[in-house]
Amino acid sequence: MQTNPPVAERLAPAADPMLPVPYRVEGVRSETYDTATLEMRPLASPPLVFQPGQFNMLYLFGSGEVPISISGDPARPTSLVHTLRAVGTVTRGLCALRTGATVGIRGPFGTAWPMAEARGRDVVLVAGGIGLAPLRPAIYHLLANRAQYGRITILYGARSTQDMLFKKELERWRSRLDIEVQVTLDRASTDWQGQVGVVTQLVRRAGFYPPDTIAMTCGPEIMIRFAVRELLGRGVPDEQVFVSLERNMKCAVGFCGHCQFGSDFVCKDGPVFAYPRVETLFGLWEV
Ligand SMILES: Cc1cc2nc3c(=O)[nH]c(=O)nc-3n(C[C@H](O)[C@H](O)[C@H](O)COP(=O)(O)OP(=O)(O)OC[C@H]3O[C@@H](n4cnc5c(N)ncnc54)[C@H](O)[C@@H]3O)c2cc1C
Ligand code: FES
Repeated sequence: MQTNPPVAERLAPAADPMLPVPYRVEGVRSETYDTATLEMRPLASPPLVFQPGQFNMLYLFGSGEVPISISGDPARPTSLVHTLRAVGTVTRGLCALRTGATVGIRGPFGTAWPMAEARGRDVVLVAGGIGLAPLRPAIYHLLANRAQYGRITILYGARSTQDMLFKKELERWRSRLDIEVQVTLDRASTDWQGQVGVVTQLVRRAGFYPPDTIAMTCGPEIMIRFAVRELLGRGVPDEQVFVSLERNMKCAVGFCGHCQFGSDFVCKDGPVFAYPRVETLFGLWEV
């Protein structure tokens, strides 16, 4: 009698970008009350090599598939790291997984932060909320190759101390003398002695040379819009400002048209775009 092979074998690594590859959850770290970081390893495939800014499709068996940026270190591809906020059925299910669970992974997909273009220049990262996760691989890369870049500025805004991601890492980065890290919270509270206000205000005071700066920004779209305005106001040329966009996705390979805007597909021409290319897409969720 013929029996079905186990899930791991049926989903063995394939060149087909539509076929999820099985990964085992090695650890789940709670970042905040609604956000968790999953660390995973492939069951049978080689490590997933990726560039900062790229994303994967995470398939929670029996529930659905969602696009999630990779938040781990690109120099350590053996461990696949994603940070997710539980907002709906699939992300809630993924955040609730335990060590040993199996997740289907397709990817990596999409464009990357312009790490090569930024070489030799000042770099400003502006992140809001969960937007720090897709920028974290870029931060790892910048720190690992510190000498190749000019001034590095990380500006991060969260709603409250309870919403802050990667608290210990932020502390470590803040203690370094070779980068500038500023954190601000939307709401003042007794457990916070730092700055209060929106992250976009920090752009005005940050130390970088605008004409020779590459800016990367990720977070809620309204935040991105104001961050871009501040960056342009400081004199950063618009083609040197990069944004990461989120749109509804299904295939992630430019086939289904879910994320299509005119001639651009957010899944394959993005999610990281130079600002002038997507200026008109802000506020437009689907066409
Ligand atoms: C390229 C890309 C990278 C992403 N990276 C990350 C990441 O690193 N971490 C992370 O937590 N999320 C990320 N997201 C968003 C994530 O894909 C969605 O939160 C997820 O698809 C929601 O699926 P769900 O089934 O859990 O919720 P659903 O049931 O689909 O939605 C629940 C609620 O959340 C809202 N929602 C759905 N998608 C989004 C969204 N993209 N932005 C805001 N609200 C939304 C819906 O309108 C609804 O109100 C990314 C999205 C894209 C396109
Ligand atoms: S998600 Fe299908 S075309 Fe982009």
